[in-house]
Amino acid sequence: MKKIEPNKLPDNYINIIGNEWMLVTAGTKEKFNTMTASWGGTGFLWNRPVVFIFIRPERYTYEFIENGDYFTLSFLGQEHKDVHKICGSKSGRDIDKIKATGIQPYFSESGNILFKEARISIECKKLYTDMIKEENFLDKSLFEKWYGGAHGNPHKVYVAEIVNMWVNE
Ligand SMILES: Cc1cc2nc3c(=O)[nH]c(=O)nc-3n(C[C@H](O)[C@H](O)[C@H](O)COP(=O)(O)O)c2cc1C
Repeated sequence: MKKIEPNKLPDNYINIIGNEWMLVTAGTKEKFNTMTASWGGTGFLWNRPVVFIFIRPERYTYEFIENGDYFTLSFLGQEHKDVHKICGSKSGRDIDKIKATGIQPYFSESGNILFKEARISIECKKLYTDMIKEENFLDKSLFEKWYGGAHGNPHKVYVAEIVNMWVNE
């Protein structure tokens, strides 16, 4: 893995987050969990390179993100869509996703979880978090569309600093 500056990535984040998808992973060497996500973004905030992700509180991964200071984002590429399908439909409460998918974890110097299969890995330190709130929607139809009926609870948004980023060569 080669370390790169966050602004040197040639990929278009709208495409890779929305179409390629990513794994959001948090926890410790001893116990961690990972899930597929396709909502989020990257940017520049408080003079730092940041990512932002949206996690529903019912996800098992949510507990790990809440309990630690860091999480990681792993982009596995289109060839690992099968991994994303498992990690995006099954819960770590019910299955061991590492065994089920065969992906190979390793750990950053800070002890955060990365995957050998990832073509891009981002280590993120949480800076800010808040729940999505119905009263704050200016386009009210979005709340009904994404949080009405059986959709699930509103997401919690996390803004996190990109502290390290690697690409697989
Ligand atoms: C393509 C795709 C994108 C997803 N994006 C998100 C997301 O951005 N936020 C979220 O909370 N759940 C998202 N999910 C759902 C979780 O990945 C799914 O509920 C997963 O089983 C949670 O696993 P866990 O309970 O082990 O954390 C997505 C699922 C898929 C298939």
